[in-house]
Amino acid sequence: MKTLKKIIGAATVMVMTSTASLNAQKVLVLYYSQTSNTKAVAEEIATKLNADIEEVVAVNPYDGDFKATIDRCMKEREKGETPKIKPLKANIAKYDVIFLGYPIWFGTYAPPIATWLNKVDLSGKKVVPFCTFGSGGLESSVKDLIAKQPKAEILEGYGVRAARMAAMPGEVDQFLKANGFLEGSYIKLQDFSAQHAVSDAEAKIFDGAVGDYPMMNAKAISVATRPIPYGIEYKFVAVDKPRDNAPMTPPPGGDKDLKLPPPGEMTVFVIVVNNEKPVFTKVIR
Ligand SMILES: Cc1cc2nc3c(=O)[nH]c(=O)nc-3n(C[C@H](O)[C@H](O)[C@H](O)COP(=O)(O)O)c2cc1C
Repeated sequence: MKTLKKIIGAATVMVMTSTASLNAQKVLVLYYSQTSNTKAVAEEIATKLNADIEEVVAVNPYDGDFKATIDRCMKEREKGETPKIKPLKANIAKYDVIFLGYPIWFGTYAPPIATWLNKVDLSGKKVVPFCTFGSGGLESSVKDLIAKQPKAEILEGYGVRAARMAAMPGEVDQFLKANGFLEGSYIKLQDFSAQHAVSDAEAKIFDGAVGDYPMMNAKAISVATRPIPYGIEYKFVAVDKPRDNAPMTPPPGGDKDLKLPPPGEMTVFVIVVNNEKPVFTKVIR
């Protein structure tokens, strides 16, 4: 592995070179996707790795709109059910590495993936989770995945907001190189600085990033930063603003069918690139 220090934008970043270590390992990209975001990530990964790819398909597809999907999921969750899925064509036993992709639904992998995880045994397999989400959920879904398949080796995952799909191909490229699946150079980011109380300017950056996201109604308390190419990444610790007498009611403009999580603390990652509008990349609750 070669290392090179480079100045990109104002930031000094480390450029590393990966010598991919997949060797003769057989890779399957397996995913569920309702509205094609996760499908796009799956296809990007499969193309880059020249891997087999298969979609998990629900026998009774979730083909309604957002509200219909929420309603159906709520009913299934109340009954403790997950949907029937069609049998896979792929023989899982043949694969060493499974890239497992899903949209985040209710803070974890979507139900068709839960169905599959309930009946498969991934002992000894390497599993690379990837997901798309409105605000976040990679970390919570990985916790559930580890609990569900404790004998699988769950590797570092990749997640991207639905609103940031344009950044996905570049991020997937970096992700695959940084994790030794693909050869070539990638940028290794520094660790974040220590957390400090937010300044007025940093609070503005936080508000600018989350302000028009209807499911967030939070205030930044402290922040850490690090350089990224052409900009800065912020790691904010934030708390939900008081919700008066209606703790589960979304703020004005929020979707009244999707309840807010219980109030609490969260970590919100924000990037500012080329001095453009701040954008949040994920929220961990
Ligand atoms: C039923 C349902 C529940 C969802 N729950 C969450 C959630 O808990 N957190 C989140 O960040 N996004 C949530 N989303 C947004 C999806 O994760 C996001 O739109 C995703 O990119 C969809 O992926 P797809 O196009 O592959 O289906 C939810 C969407 C649906 C339909």
